[in-house]
Amino acid sequence: MLTHAQIEKSNFWMILLTTLFVSVGGLVEIVPLFFQTSTTKPVNELVKPYDALRLAGRDIYIREGCYNCHSQMIRPFRAETERYGHYSVAGEYVYDHPFQWGSKRTGPDLHRVGGRYSDQWHKIHLLNPRDVVPESNMPAYSWLDRPLKEPAIGAKMTALRMVGVPYTDQEIADAPKKLVKDDGTPYTEVEAVIAYLQGMGLALKQTR
Ligand code: HEC
Repeated sequence: MLTHAQIEKSNFWMILLTTLFVSVGGLVEIVPLFFQTSTTKPVNELVKPYDALRLAGRDIYIREGCYNCHSQMIRPFRAETERYGHYSVAGEYVYDHPFQWGSKRTGPDLHRVGGRYSDQWHKIHLLNPRDVVPESNMPAYSWLDRPLKEPAIGAKMTALRMVGVPYTDQEIADAPKKLVKDDGTPYTEVEAVIAYLQGMGLALKQTR
C-alpha cells in the first residue's frame, strides 16, 4: 500500500495519479454537457440556423477580425445586463460553428445588437464609423461596399450540416439564389454583414 509520503516523493506515482484524477474530474464536468438540452438545444424557437445571406455576413465578420474588438457574450452581471440586455445563454449558440464569443472588448459587446440600429446606420457606421460616432476608434471598412462573392455557400452549409446544423437539401440548393436580390443584382458584403448583425441575440431580447 502506497503512503501519501511515498506518492509525493515519487515522480512516477505523482504524475500518474495527478493525470488520472485531473482526467476523471474533467470528464465528470465536461461529458454531461454533451447530453444536457440547455447546451445542445436552441433556447427557444427564435434561434434558427443562419440563412445563406447571414452566414455569408458572419464569414465576413470572421474574415475582417471583428471578434478582436467585439465580444458576443453578455455575462450575468448587473452592469452588463443593464447595458446590453439579457445575459447570454448556451442555447443561443447551438448553430454557431465556430462561436464568436471573443475575449476582448475594445468596442461594445454585440450579442444583442440586432434591431438596435437601422440598416442605414450600420451601413454608414461600417463604411466609416466617424460619420455617426465622431469619437470612434473602430476602423473604417470602406471596401465592404462591393458585390458579395460567395461561390462556396452551398458547400459551407453542407459542412455545417455535418456538425449538426439542420439545413434541408432545398435550403442548400437555394443558397446561391439567396445572395442575389429580387432585381438580379448581388447583395453587397456590407449588406450581408448587416443582415448578420440585425439577427443577433433576438431570442431573449424581449425579456430584458
Ligand atoms: C479596433 C477595434 C474594432 C474593430 C476591429 C471593430 N470594431 Fe466595431 N466598434 C469598436 C468601437 C471602439 C466601437 C464603439 C464606437 C462606435 O460605435 O463606433 C465599435 C462599435 C461597433 C458597433 C456599434 C455597437 C453598439 O452597440 O453601439 C457595431 C455594430 C460594430 N462596432 C461592428 C463591427 C464589425 C461588424 C466589425 C468588423 C467588420 C467591427 N465592429 C470591428 C471597435 C472595433
